[in-house]
Amino acid sequence: MTATRPEAASAAAPDTPFSTRLRERTRQGHAGAEHSGYMSALTSGELPLEGYAALAAQQHAVYAVLEEAGDAMRADPVAGLFVADELRRLGALEADLAFLLGPGWRALSAPTAATRAYCARLREVCFDWPAGFVAHHYTRYLGDLSGGQILGTLVARTYGLDEDGVRFYRFEQIPKPKSFKDRYRALLDAAPWDGQEQERVIEEVLVAYDHNTRMLASLDDVARALLRR
Ligand code: HEM
Repeated sequence: MTATRPEAASAAAPDTPFSTRLRERTRQGHAGAEHSGYMSALTSGELPLEGYAALAAQQHAVYAVLEEAGDAMRADPVAGLFVADELRRLGALEADLAFLLGPGWRALSAPTAATRAYCARLREVCFDWPAGFVAHHYTRYLGDLSGGQILGTLVARTYGLDEDGVRFYRFEQIPKPKSFKDRYRALLDAAPWDGQEQERVIEEVLVAYDHNTRMLASLDDVARALLRR
C-alpha cells in the first residue's frame, strides 16, 4: 500500500519540534538582519578597518548586557541550562577592540541610538523573564555559530587578520559548532513552555532580529562617512 504523505506532515505540523518552528517562523526576521548596506560594504572589503571596529563596538555594548543577564539567569532551572561559559564573547570583543583601536578603545566605542535601544530591550526582558532571555541568547549566539562563522572568515581574509581582531568569531572551546547547535536545539525542544509561552518566545526573537537589523542600519551612516573620505 502506498500511503500518501499528508500535507499535515509539513513543517507547520503541531508535532514539529519547537526549534524548527522557531527557525521557520523567524526566517523573515533573519533575512532582514542578514542584508544590510553595512554588511555589503564590510564583506566587499571597501570599508577601512575602523569601519569594522564600529561593529565590534556595537556588539560590545550588546554582549555586556546579554552576559550580565546570563550571570543573573545562571541559577534559573530552564534559562540556566542555556548559559555556557564557552559562549562568552565579552572578553574576546574587548581584546579585538584593544587591537583594532588601541588602549583608548572605550572612548572610541560609543553605541549608536539603535544599539542603545537594543540594550534597553535586553535590560527590560532578560533579567526577569527566563524565556525572554533565551530568545535573545538564541538570536545572538546561534547566529554567531552559524552565519557569524562565515562572516568571521570573510572579515579575517579581507583585513588580513589571523587571531587578533577576530577573536569574537573564534569559539576556541566549541570545536564543533554543529554538534553544539544540535544540543542547543534539543534544549529548546525540551523547555517546558506551553504553546502560549512558545509564541511569546517566537515574538521576542522577531523583536531581537529587528533590533539587530536597526543596529546594523545605524552603521550604514558610519560606513558611508568612511567611504566618502
Ligand atoms: C552576514 C550576515 C549573515 C549571514 C550570511 C547569515 C547566515 C546564516 C546561515 C547560513 C545560517 C544557517 C546555518 C545552519 O543551518 O546551521 C544562519 C543561522 C542563523 N542566523 Fe544568521 N546570518 C547572518 C546574519 C545574522 C544576524 C545579524 C543574526 C542575528 C543577530 C543572525 C542570526 C542567526 C540565527 C539565530 C541562526 C540560527 C537559526 C536556527 O537554526 O534556528 N544571523 N545564518
